[in-house]
Amino acid sequence: MIRVLGIETSCDETAASVVALEGDAAPKILSNIVLSQIEEHAAFGGVVPEIAARAHVEALDGIVEAALADSGVALADIDAIAATAGPGLVGGLIVGLMTAKAIAAAAGKPLIAVNHLEGHALTARLTDGLEFPYLLLLVSGGHTQILAVRGVGDYQRWATTIDDALGEAFDKTAKMLGLPYPGGPNVEKAALSGNASRFAFPRPMKGSAQPDFSFSGLKTAVRQAATAIEPLSDQDVADICASFQAAVADALADRVSRALARFRKTFPGTKNPALVVSGGVAANRAIKATLERLCTENGFNFVAPPLKLCTDNAAMIAWAGIERLREGMAQENGFDFVPRPRWPLDSVSTPMVGSGRRGAKA
Ligand code: KG4
Ligand code: ZN
Repeated sequence: MIRVLGIETSCDETAASVVALEGDAAPKILSNIVLSQIEEHAAFGGVVPEIAARAHVEALDGIVEAALADSGVALADIDAIAATAGPGLVGGLIVGLMTAKAIAAAAGKPLIAVNHLEGHALTARLTDGLEFPYLLLLVSGGHTQILAVRGVGDYQRWATTIDDALGEAFDKTAKMLGLPYPGGPNVEKAALSGNASRFAFPRPMKGSAQPDFSFSGLKTAVRQAATAIEPLSDQDVADICASFQAAVADALADRVSRALARFRKTFPGTKNPALVVSGGVAANRAIKATLERLCTENGFNFVAPPLKLCTDNAAMIAWAGIERLREGMAQENGFDFVPRPRWPLDSVSTPMVGSGRRGAKA
């Protein structure tokens, strides 16, 4: 039996969780507490790093206590503490990692410094017991990447955004149209009553042999369309949202279909190839439906973990800790680990200019 306490503070969620693994049984999430700071940042239309760090300091002790209490596991019976050590906003990372170090030191437990993106990458094994290798599409407010997940600690980045992250494009579009923060869910809601063919927005990178994403041109096209017909009626806003979402879904489908083909070539022996989608944008039903169709057409399983585990949480961090412990891959001394605001999963791929980091939110 391995039981790990996970801590996540890399952006605007303060989270703690206990996950347990016993023998060959499916892992169990014994507790999973997430405190969102959305309200604290809403007035500013985005995450303010200083406010985020202060909010983590105020909340984290109580959240950890609650996660332990909920799990019914005493700290003495926890095998290790796993905390997000990057990438993300440095203030939050310091709060989470230092708290984890203090708890681990006081309780005499090992400390595992976890890469937040590895948490997202391995979630499908926690929820669906997925076997390696598989393909991951990570679409959040800070990242838009396609990764080939080959094993614990073995990731290859096949595509990334060369400018904005997809969630960021949703948030900026919402802001331009006067919709409240966070923009994604509000754009999706408005799109429901809109005409997706009224505006012919560009499908960025569609047809390009280069695998990457780009969304800033689309954002500009939205701004120009909105400016041209101002003042906007509710119907105009709905039509722009629907047309924007259709362009995004189309562009994603083009990019992902290339990755599916590459996956087949790279891992020809894989019996049940799978595409996993993770990150806040995975909540979008239109995008999900497009990806699901694409997977069916290409003989891939489509795996979308429950939304609570797709967005930022600490169960994925505890789980990454368990995977590392099990493989003997935890740092020998996590206490030496210094927070890394930038920490690519795949250190071989060259970093992209911009790379869709709004304060490095993942
Ligand atoms: O993964 P997440 O909760 O936080 C991080 O970025 O780490 O993702 C938040 C992003 C925001 O940009 C938000 O606007 C977007 O996900 N989002 C959506 C939807 N729900 C959240 N985008 C499109 N459609 C949605 N329904
Ligand atoms: Zn994230």
